[in-house]
Amino acid sequence: MTARPLLVVVLAAGKGVRMRSAIPKVLHAVAGRSMLGHVLATAQAAGADKLALVVAPGMEAVRAEAQRLARDIEVFEQATPEGTGHAVLSARQALERHQGDIVVLFADTPLVEPGTLGRLIAALDAGAHIAALAFHAPEATGYGRLVLDGQGRVVRIAEHLDASEHERRIGLCNAGAMAFRVPRLADLLARIGNANAKGEYYLTDVVALAAADGMTTAAVACEPQEALGVNSREQLAAAEAAFQARARRRVMEAGATLVAPETVWLSFDTEIGRDVVIEPNVFFGPGVVVEDGAHILANCHFVGARIGKGARVGPFARFRPGADIGEAAHVGNFVEVKNARLETGAKANHLAYIGDGRVGERANIGAGTIFCNYDGFNKHFTDVGKGAFVGSNTSLVAPVKIGDGAYIGSGSVISRDVAPDALALERSTQETRPGWAARFRALMGRRRNAPKPPSD
Ligand code: UD1
Ligand code: CA
Repeated sequence: MTARPLLVVVLAAGKGVRMRSAIPKVLHAVAGRSMLGHVLATAQAAGADKLALVVAPGMEAVRAEAQRLARDIEVFEQATPEGTGHAVLSARQALERHQGDIVVLFADTPLVEPGTLGRLIAALDAGAHIAALAFHAPEATGYGRLVLDGQGRVVRIAEHLDASEHERRIGLCNAGAMAFRVPRLADLLARIGNANAKGEYYLTDVVALAAADGMTTAAVACEPQEALGVNSREQLAAAEAAFQARARRRVMEAGATLVAPETVWLSFDTEIGRDVVIEPNVFFGPGVVVEDGAHILANCHFVGARIGKGARVGPFARFRPGADIGEAAHVGNFVEVKNARLETGAKANHLAYIGDGRVGERANIGAGTIFCNYDGFNKHFTDVGKGAFVGSNTSLVAPVKIGDGAYIGSGSVISRDVAPDALALERSTQETRPGWAARFRALMGRRRNAPKPPSD
């Protein structure tokens, strides 16, 4: 890759009216991460040395999200939305300070891949002054069309509204991303006019200006899915679908089995190991790692969890942030785990809540066990030792510690620590009355046969 410093300018000042949302468009999520987050991550992965972001006045939430994800990002305001060319010029100070290549990305086009950006920059290494990312659109309406000359150079980009009948028949469209190796980009941008259908300063007009100056302008092709721009909720859903298709394919290519891929929902950062088997209807929120050989049975939900090697979880199990399931551990149906570690070989096979705790190696948590972690004010920890056996329908009132190898009798409410290898039992003594049931039935039978009293 190029050794020249790279500045990436991300445009996010568009209003996004068609989203009909109180939230700025670029903060809407695809696969658990804001579109802005996707674009910033792509820029970073492609080797950006400096990042700049262009927002509209009042977009404090966009600024905050950008600074959370990229601390050194420089944020500029575009006072009025006068087009993409005008937007890039709003970052003029960053452009002028920078010595090196410049890439412009749209924050509403979240699926461009780092490798694709790499190819765009490589076109500069190969001699282009400007490289535009292009794709063959199945439906080109609305996109800018790339007008090429005989040598494959881009002569100009014709925006849909301004394009002639002839130009509208061109299938090659502008994906939005553009790379520049020009001495003074700001000066070039300042020459863009706004005498067009929208009365805007189009970034795309920079191509014709550069070509007229004798600069080399190239097109670099990408997949249509990467070029998906999000202007509406429907396009947001289309971007999500495209992301999911790609992510599922990658998981399978890396050696996992998805029994019904189209029913498994992945996040931008889901990590799935080799020989993992995932049954139908599984949802992965952000921050989940599934290690090699784990088996995820149908209908599970994960957020912020780790599933260890060879573990077996589900069906119908829920893993919340901090759930850490050790090697070969089992978590069965209707079990919820939050901020708790199950160590190697531990089991909780049915109907339990395990929150804020540890379950030691090979310990067994019976059906209906609840870790009572919350007293209405604070969360407390439950520690279950190695090899301990917690009988069914037990309440463990935290903070509490169950020693290694201890037994807890079913139905107990345990609020005090239990020593290793002890039995703790908390329930009233069982009372048994021999013959009581038979006598009771006989008595009730006699009553039923008794003559009814007259009704009036
Ligand atoms: C743009 C391209 C078009 C391309 C298409 C790909 C231009 C003139 N047209 O059209 O060739 O095919 O994207 O999706 O560039 N923005 C600002 N300030 C503004 C206007 C826009 O920051 O004043 C930002 C938006 O937030 C968005 C991006 O620039 O992230 C693109 O703007 P948008 O209005 O969506 O451009 P398109 O009409 O889609
Ligand atoms: Ca757009």
